[in-house]
Amino acid sequence: MLQYKAKLIAPFLFITLLSPIGHTQQNQPIRPIPVTEKSDPEMVSFGRQLYMSALFSKNTSLSCNSCHSVKRSGTDNLPKHIGLSGSLGAVNTPTVFNSSLNFRQFWDGRAKTLEDVINDHLRDPQVFANNWPTVIERIKQDKALHQSYKKLYKGEVTADNLTEALVAYIKNLLTPDAPFDRYLKGDNNALSDDAKKGYQLFKSYGCITCHQGVNVGGNIFEKLGIYKDFFVEPRKIKKADLGYFNVTGKEEDKFVFKVPSLRNVALSAPYFHDGSVNTLEDAIQLMGIYQIGQPIQVYDIPLIVKFLESLTGKLPESER
Ligand code: HEC
Ligand code: HEC
Repeated sequence: MLQYKAKLIAPFLFITLLSPIGHTQQNQPIRPIPVTEKSDPEMVSFGRQLYMSALFSKNTSLSCNSCHSVKRSGTDNLPKHIGLSGSLGAVNTPTVFNSSLNFRQFWDGRAKTLEDVINDHLRDPQVFANNWPTVIERIKQDKALHQSYKKLYKGEVTADNLTEALVAYIKNLLTPDAPFDRYLKGDNNALSDDAKKGYQLFKSYGCITCHQGVNVGGNIFEKLGIYKDFFVEPRKIKKADLGYFNVTGKEEDKFVFKVPSLRNVALSAPYFHDGSVNTLEDAIQLMGIYQIGQPIQVYDIPLIVKFLESLTGKLPESER
């Protein structure tokens, strides 16, 4: 898998070296988030209503927004969420912002689409512990939601239509216009000198081989612990640590995860699939040891942090 990836990235890096500085940075291995029109404003708005509603959870205590707060970072900023049963969730809650740009969903990539995420979440005892017939019945009983539904759809309330509206809303949760994206589009002043140095280091250390593309991640699987085993004492291996192995059952997929997007990463602490890392500084240092096989120099770390901070974009209009 690594070899395959190296082939894929090599042309990117080559082009990067050739690209002129101070012009539109068209050939960079990171691309700006596209600024797109809302698909169907009424559907997005109904999707938002559903997103904020606690009707999905079995005991009506949680909405999507409880764990993925759109006024924060699209996450809960907890190491792990507390499930309906009061027990700790299996993994750290990833952000919903820009999640539609990821090639797969969830840390272990078990969901191929956003529709899969909603179905998985609905049944998951740690998330909603519910089922569609119950949700549909509740929507019918909820005057405001039912009315919004009828404005959009004819006929019976269906799981497909509710899912469609939720997905439309999630697709609307993009955060374009980050300083780094403005820099890519040719605004040389959008980045401080430190952030520019940080970006060069991000490339020269090789972070870019895994975190690249429009989401600065979210487009390949990689093992956590390529150069050194991550899961050694006192870390205890839990099922969720096995990552993609839980999907394929193949030995080589143990500890393999979807490389997370680094968009808005300065806002989404704590980090890693298990929420075990509190600061960006620590995350960068661990990446050096486990993913690059080379320690990151202490004076380089604050510069890389500056670069990562420049990936914080603007909240979608509906959430400002
Ligand atoms: C109780 C907390 C909780 C609630 C409520 C919740 N989620 Fe999640 N969400 C999570 C966790 C934890 C994950 C990661 C699960 C994993 O990787 O196995 C996740 C993952 C996701 C992802 C995948 C992101 C990615 O990059 O992989 C999306 C999209 C998402 N949730 C959307 C939603 C939507 C929409 C709702 C409401 C229908 C919702 N979530 C409700 C905790 C929650
Ligand atoms: C070989 C692939 C690879 C390389 C190279 C790599 N990373 Fe990562 N990165 C990952 C994976 C996989 C994770 C998820 C780790 C986990 O879930 O526990 C991750 C997680 C992160 C996180 C935490 C994100 C979050 O939301 O939890 C940050 C920050 C990060 N990497 C930054 C960097 C930096 C900076 C570099 C270069 C010094 C780098 N990475 C190099 C694969 C890589």
